[in-house]
Amino acid sequence: MPRISKQSRKFSLKRQKGVYKTPYATACHMAELVHPFITEKSKILDPSVGDAVFIQALIDRGVNPSQITAHDIDVEKIQKLHLMGVHAKCTDTLLNDYPLKDIILGNPPYKSRRESYYMKKHRKELEKKYGFIGLYNLYSLFVVNAIQHLKNRGILCFIIQDTFFTNRYYYRFREFLLNSCKIVEIKLAPWRLFHRSDADVRTAIILLEKKHTSSFWESKQLIEDRKHQMRLIDRLSNEKEYKNPPKIQLVPQIEYRKMPDLKFFVGVPKSIIRLIQNPPARFGDITKGGTGISTGNDGKYLRLAEEVQNDSAWVGFYKSGQRTPYFYKTPFFIEKDYQKNAKNDPKNFLVRNEQFYFREGITCSSVGRKFSAAYMPPGNLFGVNANFFFDNDEDIFYSLGFLNSKLVQYLTRKVIHRSNIIATSFLKEIPFIYPSMDQKTEIVTIVKEIVLYLMKHQNYDFSSKAEKVDEIIFDLYKISDKIKDEILDFCSNIMDFS
Ligand SMILES: C[S@@+](CC[C@H](N)C(=O)[O-])C[C@H]1O[C@@H](n2cnc3c(N)ncnc32)[C@H](O)[C@@H]1O
Repeated sequence: MPRISKQSRKFSLKRQKGVYKTPYATACHMAELVHPFITEKSKILDPSVGDAVFIQALIDRGVNPSQITAHDIDVEKIQKLHLMGVHAKCTDTLLNDYPLKDIILGNPPYKSRRESYYMKKHRKELEKKYGFIGLYNLYSLFVVNAIQHLKNRGILCFIIQDTFFTNRYYYRFREFLLNSCKIVEIKLAPWRLFHRSDADVRTAIILLEKKHTSSFWESKQLIEDRKHQMRLIDRLSNEKEYKNPPKIQLVPQIEYRKMPDLKFFVGVPKSIIRLIQNPPARFGDITKGGTGISTGNDGKYLRLAEEVQNDSAWVGFYKSGQRTPYFYKTPFFIEKDYQKNAKNDPKNFLVRNEQFYFREGITCSSVGRKFSAAYMPPGNLFGVNANFFFDNDEDIFYSLGFLNSKLVQYLTRKVIHRSNIIATSFLKEIPFIYPSMDQKTEIVTIVKEIVLYLMKHQNYDFSSKAEKVDEIIFDLYKISDKIKDEILDFCSNIMDFS
C-alpha cells in the first residue's frame, strides 16, 4: 500500500477527506438556480453526495426523487440514501463511466494534489483522463468530469474553491471552461461559509451551460462568447444576500478570453479590466529581481541581532513574513559568506539571483491577503520572497510608493492574483503608467521622508503621507471618484472582499 507522506498526515482528517459540508441555505440557493432548467424528463446527478444536503434541497423544492441520481465513493453515505427514493450508487465518479445527465449539481471535494492520498494512488489513471487540464486539485477534475457527462446545453451548478480564477496552474482548466461552456453565473460565496467546519476556504458558486458540441469550432466560439452575457456577483457578506446581491455585473464572456492568461474576474470595473487587458507597460519593464537565498534550514543558518552583536561577518537577511510597509529592521541575520554555506550544503542551501546580493532595493512580504513592500538598504541579503532592484535611486523610491499604493493592492489582490501568495512574477504583471517628472519627484520626496522617519522611529505614523501617494497614483491612472471609493473600500476590508 502506498505510504502517506508526513505532509499529508499533517492535515486534519476532515481536510484529508476533502469534506466541507455545504450549509443547507447554500444548497437551497443552488437548487433554486438549477430549478428553472428542470423538466419532468430531466436526469439530475450529485456526483459526490456526502451528507445529501443537495438531494434534500432538491426534494424540498418539489423535484421528484426518481429523477435524481447520487454518487459517492463512500459506501456509508450511499446506504442512507435509498430511504430518500433516489438512485444511489457507490462509485468513483472520476474513474467510472456513467450515462449523460441534464443537470449536475453539488459540492465536490477540494483537495490539492499535495493533500490527496487518492490523487497519489490513482495518478496514472487520472493523468490519462484529466491530464490535459493538469492534476492540481480534485475539484477541477470533478468539474471537467461533470461537463463531459452533461448532454448538450446541460446545466452544471457547483460550489468550488475560487483558486482557479487567476492561478497560472489553472490556465488550461479556465480554457476548457470557456471552450466548453457558457458561464451563466459566477457568484463569490460568503468567505466564512465553511468556517464552521474548521476550514478557511474561499468558494464560488458556478452555474454553467454546456455549449452545443457544434459550437466547439473556434470561430463559432468567439461569436457566441461575444453575444453571451455572464452574470458576475461579487463576494457576498452572508447567505441572506443570495436573494438580492448588492453588486451584479453583466459581462460578455469574450472579456475573459481577452484577459492575460484567461484570468477570471468578478466585480471589477470595466476601466480596470481594460487597463489589465491593454497595459501601456508593466511593472516588470522597469525593474529586475526575484527570489534570493533559500537556506533550507533557517534554524541552522539564521541568527537574531542580539546573537551576532554587530559582528561584521553577519549581514541582515530580509525574508518572508514581515508585513511592515516602507521600512523595517530585519530581526534576522545570515553569514555574509553565503558561498561557503552553499558549497558545504549544496542540496539545501540554494542561491538564486546572486547578481543582486548586497544591493539596495525593495523587499516584499511573501504571504497574506495584504501585501507590502519595504526599502532594503545596501549590504543585506534576502530570501525567497519577491525582491526588486533598479538602475537608479529615484526608481527605488518611486516604486516603493507605487507598490504600497491602494491601487496596486487592489490590482494585485482583486484581479491579478486572488490568493495570499505574493510572487515576483505576478507583481511584474502590474500595469505601469510612466509618471510625469513632477509626479515622480513628489512621490520620491514623500517616500524618502517616510523611510527616513521609520529608520528613526519604528512606530512613525505615515498614513497621511501614504494617502498623498495614493492620490497621485489615482490621478496618474485616471481613476474616477466612484472607482476610487470601491478600491478604498476593498483595501480597508480585504479579508471580507477578496
Ligand atoms: C466535499 S464532500 C461534499 C459532500 C456534499 N456534497 C455536501 O456538501 O455535504 C465530498 C464527498 O465526495 C466524496 N468523494 C470523494 N471522492 C470521490 C470520488 N472520486 N467519487 C465519488 N465521490 C467522492 C466523499 O466521500 C464525500 O462524501
